[in-house]
Amino acid sequence: MSLDRNLALELARVTEAAALDAGRWVGKGDKISADAAATEAMRRTLDAMDINGVVVIGEGEMDEAPMLYIGEELGSGLDGECEVDIAVDPLEGTTICSKGINGAIATIALAPRGGFLHAPDMYMDKLVTGPDGIGAVDIEQSAGENVLALAKAKNCDPQDLMVVLLDRPRHDKAIAEIRQVGARCQLITDGDVAPAIASAVEGSGVDMMIGIGGAPEGVLTAAAIKCLGGFMQGRLVFMTDEERNRSNNMGIEDFDKIYTVEEMARGEVFFAATGVTNGDLVRGVRYFSGGAKTHTVVMRSKSRTIRFLETLHYFDHKPGFRS
Ligand code: FBP
Repeated sequence: MSLDRNLALELARVTEAAALDAGRWVGKGDKISADAAATEAMRRTLDAMDINGVVVIGEGEMDEAPMLYIGEELGSGLDGECEVDIAVDPLEGTTICSKGINGAIATIALAPRGGFLHAPDMYMDKLVTGPDGIGAVDIEQSAGENVLALAKAKNCDPQDLMVVLLDRPRHDKAIAEIRQVGARCQLITDGDVAPAIASAVEGSGVDMMIGIGGAPEGVLTAAAIKCLGGFMQGRLVFMTDEERNRSNNMGIEDFDKIYTVEEMARGEVFFAATGVTNGDLVRGVRYFSGGAKTHTVVMRSKSRTIRFLETLHYFDHKPGFRS
């Protein structure tokens, strides 16, 4: 099924609302309240959209998340019209938001029904680059080999490249290899979606994202990378038998499978992200007396249009707005 309406700009309203409400919690040391504020705002605005949506990547199962849970139906569309899968992370980077550190975003993606990989809440090994990486890098190569391959494809020196990784002991070997071949590393404490997407945006200053992070975040990343024409591979990382069973129940049979962008985000997809705190992809919310300015990126895979929106919000004119 293809979607004949451009939903990208409507999604901007959803992530803007989430960022504006989460933004009030930046640096306050309370990641639960920040996440709840983003989730509530996103649910409110999503439910008003003229779609028939089902959450497939969300805040958790019904019994663990009061809203935006997996399976929740949202939207005010007529039966049978505009049937979409919804992938959300209302506040990606809850800890960095609570500490006021760079890199927190509110993000969402839509695909035709059945379009998104139903990724369980577990880890995924990811490799993301811009279009230059296609045919050059591969998740089965070492980190060092991938840096050298990307440098060759981009016709640059390895030291020109910036590679983003979550700062975790599990990445120590990859970090050492990347440094060994002369490239630079940006080690982030949390929030791998925004820098992964930035690696496919020309001139962002980031060239590659490598390493193990959340699988749901991987699907959201794949939606954006598809719109950008970039490269991504993901492989689920199973830590326990319980994760294997859960994945099996969700239809995953091949535990070693390497997923391509197309296998994680099929059909025409839409993506939006608004900055909560500043980052390589978008700037954070800036409040002023009576309003705020947001910075959002919206994308549509069909047209490959990538829009960066700077938006002024005046709270007196926003009925139902809680900030
Ligand atoms: P939040 O759930 O707090 O938003 O954290 C998100 C995140 O940092 C992702 O960006 C990343 O993929 C994952 O968590 C990393 O997981 P871990 O902290 O277990 O290494």
